[in-house]
Amino acid sequence: MSQERTLSIIKPDGVQKNVIGECLRRFEQAGLKIAGVRMLQLSKNQAEEFYAVHRGRPFYESLVTYMTSGPVVASVLVGDNAVLKNREIMGATDPKKAAPGTIRRDLADSIEANVVHGSDSVENAKIEIRFFFPEL
Ligand code: CMP
Repeated sequence: MSQERTLSIIKPDGVQKNVIGECLRRFEQAGLKIAGVRMLQLSKNQAEEFYAVHRGRPFYESLVTYMTSGPVVASVLVGDNAVLKNREIMGATDPKKAAPGTIRRDLADSIEANVVHGSDSVENAKIEIRFFFPEL
């Protein structure tokens, strides 16, 4: 087991649905520590930069519009295998394919409005944490 850090975002639909506490509770209950948390409104430029890897994909423009539609809550999660653990807690990107008991299966409406984002690797976690928490 390795101590890792990963980035979580509770997306605009999660904030709107009043499930910030529910998401953070699930992270903590799984043994992850919250090392930083910040609510912010992403600008169009910031959302485009954060999701630059998806530029050119059919859902990119809509994703940027959605991610800037309201505040988000970014957090740094720390723990054993935090990247994978967070992905297990979130479930598959498409809530219809997510396992029962995961955030996306329980709380998400669509593949776009899927409540949470989580880093997909230790390398990307470093980049994403720096994006939201340059001081950490
Ligand atoms: P996330 O894990 O934040 O990574 C990219 C996001 O794009 C994804 O969650 C969804 O919110 C959104 N998205 C919309 N449509 C798709 C799609 N067809 N495949 C993957 N991601 C999508």
